[in-house]
Formats: sequence, structure tokens, C-alpha cells
Amino acid sequence: MIRHFLSTQDWSRADLDALLARAAAFKRTKAGRELAGKSVALLFFNPSMRTRTSFELGAFQLGGHAIVLAPGKDAWPIEFDTGAIMDGEAEEHVAEVARVLSRYVDLIGVRAFPKFRDWSVDREDRVINAFARHATVPVINMETITHPMQELAHILALQQHFGAPERGVDPAQVLRGKKYVLTWTYHPRPLNTAVANSALQIATRYGMDVTLLCPTPDYVLDSRYMDFARANVAANGGSLRVSHDPDEAYRGAHVVYAKSWGALPYFGRWDEEKPIRDAHRHFIVDERKMALTDHGVFSHCLPLRRNVKATDAVMDSPACIAIEEAENRLHVQKAVMAALVAQPG
Ligand code: CP
Repeated sequence: MIRHFLSTQDWSRADLDALLARAAAFKRTKAGRELAGKSVALLFFNPSMRTRTSFELGAFQLGGHAIVLAPGKDAWPIEFDTGAIMDGEAEEHVAEVARVLSRYVDLIGVRAFPKFRDWSVDREDRVINAFARHATVPVINMETITHPMQELAHILALQQHFGAPERGVDPAQVLRGKKYVLTWTYHPRPLNTAVANSALQIATRYGMDVTLLCPTPDYVLDSRYMDFARANVAANGGSLRVSHDPDEAYRGAHVVYAKSWGALPYFGRWDEEKPIRDAHRHFIVDERKMALTDHGVFSHCLPLRRNVKATDAVMDSPACIAIEEAENRLHVQKAVMAALVAQPG
């Protein structure tokens, strides 16, 4: 049975803690030969800067090799539907692509965002699930409808901010009880809910008191991720609530994590969502709101539009740990790749 890395929910807290400890060790020393003689195919159906760079570099630093493919651009377009009569754009089926790549490489990474037309289809996460079904090597989620690598990078940044092992603090416990605000922010276009889903999952997994701050009930996240978060609270302690009041939500917060996302009921009707989105530009993360926190840190997965999602002053303040979190992508991905290739064959 191959173990993929599709969602952190599939991995135990002990597994995640071990991955984070290994990532912290990789952060201290780049050295490693865990991927010597091995290779990873990185399939990007959507653009990337951090994910592509950090995976390629991570494979290199562990003695391995990465091959980047953009299906439909520099590689053949792929069909995912079972039983499809392939008389359209796609030149080959994922059943062949996944199995052929599995003969060449030891790991397959997939980035495939939702299509933003029909959430009931997008929420099935068909692209990565098809790769996982057909591949005979581990498949890694590089962002689909969740972003598990960002989750690990985020938690590592928070653990290292709030207390590191060298200061005698157990990193696995240091976030327990911290007041965590996941805030929606304005963006001119409706964006993927992946990072927001992921933030809810991982913040509740680590026992934080989580507030989902969003403009209206329409921006509450998919029930699957709300349910995961509630189950995590039941298992790990902490709490989960929804707020539509920025000042109330920021007051006393230890962590502010920002992301923009489209409201699920408006999928495919984005022109109807636009007036609501435009009326909530004031959800921008700014100095006034950050001053309400309890010396809170700010982060974002990046890329970030300055002075739209967060102000220059917030981005350039010592409270901003977004660059640290971005660096951590390299270390956590090395930890995940090293763990996956070490599985018994
Ligand atoms: N945060 C993140 O995944 O960045 P990229 O989209 O640049 O890969």
C-alpha cells in the first residue's frame, strides 16, 4: 500500500510532528542524501514561484533530480474522466501518464487548482485523486483544494516564533491555546479556498483557538473542512468559531493569517459575488487592526498584493513571518520527500 501525501488529515499528529522535527533539522543543515539516485516529477497545471523553486531545489539538495512538466503547455494535455471518448484537446489519459511516470520517477507532485465553475465538481479534487489512483509511486499535493505543504511550513514558522526546542519548549505543544485568526482579505478576483481550508485544518490540529473571520456567512468554508476542523478540536482541544467583525476577531490574537477566497455559493456566478467582495476591502490587514492583537504575528502563504490584502507597513513589520514561512517550504518538502521515498517497496 503506497502512502501518498495528499492531505495532512491522512497523517497522524505523531507523523506530522516527526516531519516538522525533520524539517527543522534540514533548516539547520542543508546536507542530506535521502534522494540520491532518485527523481521526482513535478506536474504544474497552474503557475507557481515558491512551490516549483523549493521542490526543485529540495530534490537537488537531497541528491535527487526534479523534472518539471506543465501539461497542456510543454507536455500533452491530459484527460481525467473515466470512459471519456477522447476526441477533444486531451492527447492522453491520466491512466497512462501516472503509470508511465511511475516507471521513470520515485515521486509525483501535482498542482491542480479548481476550475471555479462548479464547486460540486471541484471539491472532488479529481486530478490529484486520479494520479493517486493510477500511480505506483507516492503522489504529493503541491496545492489542489488544500495546500498541505503550506500547512507544514506555516506551523514550523509559528513553532519557531513562539518557542523553539533550543529554548526548552516542546514545539509540538507550543501552539496550544494560542488565539489564531484566519482572515479573509479582499482580492480583485475570486481565489482558491485551498490555503484557507488548510489553515483551518492545521491550526485546529495544533490545538489553537481558531476564529474564521470572513465578510458574510457565504464565505464560510466547505463543510468538509469545517467538519475536519471541528473533529480536530474534539480530538486536540482548542476551539473554532466564525466571526464577521474584524475588530472583535483581532482583539487579543496571537496569530493573524490572511487569505482571499471566493464564496462557495457564487461559484460560476462571480459577477454576483463582486459587489459583496468590493464592499469588504476594509478587511485588509493593516497597522490599526494588528495593534488590537496581543503582540500578534502576521503571515500569508504568498504571493500577496501589497496594499490590497495587507499594507506595506504590516508586510515590512517585524511581526510579519511570511518570508520565514516561505523559506520553510523548502525544509518541509525535503522532510516529506525523504519520508515518502523511505517507504518499504
Ligand atoms: N505559496 C505558494 O504555494 O506559492 P506559489 O504559488 O508561488 O508556489
